[in-house]
Amino acid sequence: MRFDSVNYELVNTTALVTLDEPSKLNALSPGIRSGLITALAKADEDPKVRAIIITGAGDKSFCAGADISGFEFTTTYAKQFIDKVLDVLALPENTSKPVIAAVNGYAFGGGFEIAIASDFVIASEQAKFGVPEIQLGLLPGFAIVRLAELVGRQMAKYLSMVGEPISAHEAKDLGLVLKVVAHDELLDRAFELADKLASKPQMAIRYAKSVYNRELGGADITYAKDVMPFLFLDEDTQEGVTAFREKRQPKFK
Ligand code: COA
Repeated sequence: MRFDSVNYELVNTTALVTLDEPSKLNALSPGIRSGLITALAKADEDPKVRAIIITGAGDKSFCAGADISGFEFTTTYAKQFIDKVLDVLALPENTSKPVIAAVNGYAFGGGFEIAIASDFVIASEQAKFGVPEIQLGLLPGFAIVRLAELVGRQMAKYLSMVGEPISAHEAKDLGLVLKVVAHDELLDRAFELADKLASKPQMAIRYAKSVYNRELGGADITYAKDVMPFLFLDEDTQEGVTAFREKRQPKFK
C-alpha cells in the first residue's frame, strides 16, 4: 500500500512505514509529510498492529530533514511551515503504539527529529545524525524543545549551534540510539524489537509510552514557533538556504 510518498506494509503485527523519495534523500516533502500522517493514523487505528517501524528507502538516507527546495522567505510561509512540520515531527510521540525508527543513513534536521520523537532508535552503523539547520541560518524547531532532555543542555546546544553530524556510535554514546547494528541487519533487528513489544500486554505498553511522553506545549514550543518567521527574514538565513540550493558554501555576514 502507498500513501503519497510513503510505503505502508503490514508484516504480522508490525506496520513497516518507509519514507520513499530517495532522490531527495527522503526529505520532508509535502508527499512524505502527508504520507506519514496517513500511515501512522492507519497503523494506530488497525487493531492488528502492535508496533510501528519507520525507515527510509534506499541505502543512503533515513530522512534529510525539511524540504529546503520549497522554502519561501516570507513570514506567512515561515509560520505555516513550522506549524505543519511540527505536527509531522511530533507524530511518533502522538501515536499510541510503540514506534521504532530504523535509521538506515542520514537522519538530519527533521529526520533526526522523527528519530528522537520515536520510542526507540535502532541505527545502521552507516547512519549519521545531526541538526545542521544552523548552516541555513535556522534552528531545529522540535529538537530545540526535546533535545536537552535527551543529551543535556550543553550537548544540545553544541549539536544545534555547531551543526556537525555525528556517527551512529556517537549517537548511541549520547543515549539517542538504543542499538547500532550491521547495515544489512537493520530491519531484522527492528522487527525483533517490534515482536518483543508485541508479545507484551498491550494496555501496559501504551500506558508506558504515554507516561514517558509529554505532549508538546507550553512556553518552549511557543518560543520555537515564534522565532521561525524572524529567522526566515534574516539575510544570513536567506544566504544559507540559497547557498544550499546553489550547491556552494554560504557567506554569512
Ligand atoms: N531538502 C530538499 N532537498 C534535499 C534535502 C533537503 N533537506 N537534502 C538533500 N536534498 C536533495 C539535494 O538537493 C540533491 O538533489 P539534486 O540531486 O536534485 O541536486 C539530492 O537530495 C541529493 O543530495 P546531495 O546534497 O547531493 O547528497 P550528499 O550525499 O552530497 O549530501 C547531505 C547529503 C544530507 C549532507 C546534504 O544533502 C544536506 O546537507 N542536506 C540538507 C540537510 C539539512 O540541512 N536538513 C535540515 C533542513 S531544515
